[in-house]
Amino acid sequence: MKEQSAAEKSVPVIELRHVDKHFGDLHVLRDINLTVEKGEVLVVIGPSGSGKSTMCRTINRLETIDSGEILIEGEPLPQEGAELTRMRAELGMVFQQFNLFAHMTILDNVTLGPREVLGVPRDEAERRAMELLERVGVAEQAQKVPAQLSGGQQQRAAIARSLAMRPKAMMFDEPTSALDPEMINEVLDVMVELAREGMTMVVVTHEMNFARRVADRVVFMADGQIVEEGAPDEFFDHPRTQRARDFLDSIKGH
Ligand SMILES: Nc1ncnc2c1ncn2[C@@H]1O[C@H](COP(=O)(O)OP(=O)(O)OP(=O)(O)O)[C@@H](O)[C@H]1O
Ligand SMILES: [Mg+2]
Repeated sequence: MKEQSAAEKSVPVIELRHVDKHFGDLHVLRDINLTVEKGEVLVVIGPSGSGKSTMCRTINRLETIDSGEILIEGEPLPQEGAELTRMRAELGMVFQQFNLFAHMTILDNVTLGPREVLGVPRDEAERRAMELLERVGVAEQAQKVPAQLSGGQQQRAAIARSLAMRPKAMMFDEPTSALDPEMINEVLDVMVELAREGMTMVVVTHEMNFARRVADRVVFMADGQIVEEGAPDEFFDHPRTQRARDFLDSIKGH
C-alpha cells in the first residue's frame, strides 16, 4: 500500500476529544480521547457497565454528550436535522439485538435506507442489496421476514443492511453475544472479511480470539475511562494495569 502523507493521516474517520457524559449522578464517560484512523479496526473491551455501549452511542449521537467534541472525518457531529440524519447514515451500527424491521422482508430491510435516505431507485437498491446479502451468505433468505431466519442469519442481514448505506465506518456493539455458540463464527467471519477489505471498524466484543486476530488496536475501558490502549498482542500478553489483568483473568476460558 502507498504511504499516506502526513496530511492524509491527520484526519481520523472518528475522533473523540475530551468527551464527558453523565447519567444523573453517574459519570459514565470520563475525558474520553480516541481516534480511529481510516481502515483501522479498533476493539473495545471492558467490564459490564464500563461505558462501552454509551461511547458507541455517542459517536452516532444516539446519546448526547455533556462536553467535549466528536468529529467524523474532521467535521463536528451536527446537533440535529437533515445533516445529522446524513452523518448518522455514514456510520453503520450493528447491535447485540438484531434490530431488523420485523414486518419487512430481509430484502426490504436492506433496501429501505438506500431508497429513503439516499434516494436510490428501487431496482438499483435491490440489485446492490442482493450482492450484499450474497456476500454475507444469506441471499436465499431475501424474501423471508426476520423471524424466519436464525439469529446468525439475522445478524448477517443486519450487517448487510448497514453496508447498503456505504458507511465510512462500521460500529459493532457485542454483535455476537445474543447468538447461540454455533452461530458466532458465521458472524465473526463476515466481520473478519470486512476488516480485510479495509473497512474502518469499532468493535465492542468479548470475543478475545477475534480481538487478537483482527484488531489493530485494543482499548480497555473501566469506570467510564480508557485505562489502556495498545496493540492486541501487547495488551493481552502484557497488560499494564491491575484492572486489565483482573478483567482478562475474569474472562479466561470464555
Ligand atoms: N439511559 C441510561 N440511563 C441511565 N443510566 C444508564 C443509561 N444507559 C446506561 N446507563 C448506565 O451507564 C453505565 C454504562 O453503561 P453501558 O451500557 O455503556 O456499559 P457497557 O460497558 O456497554 O456494559 P455491558 O458490557 O454490560 O454492555 C452503566 O452503569 C449503566 O447502567
Ligand atoms: Mg454494552
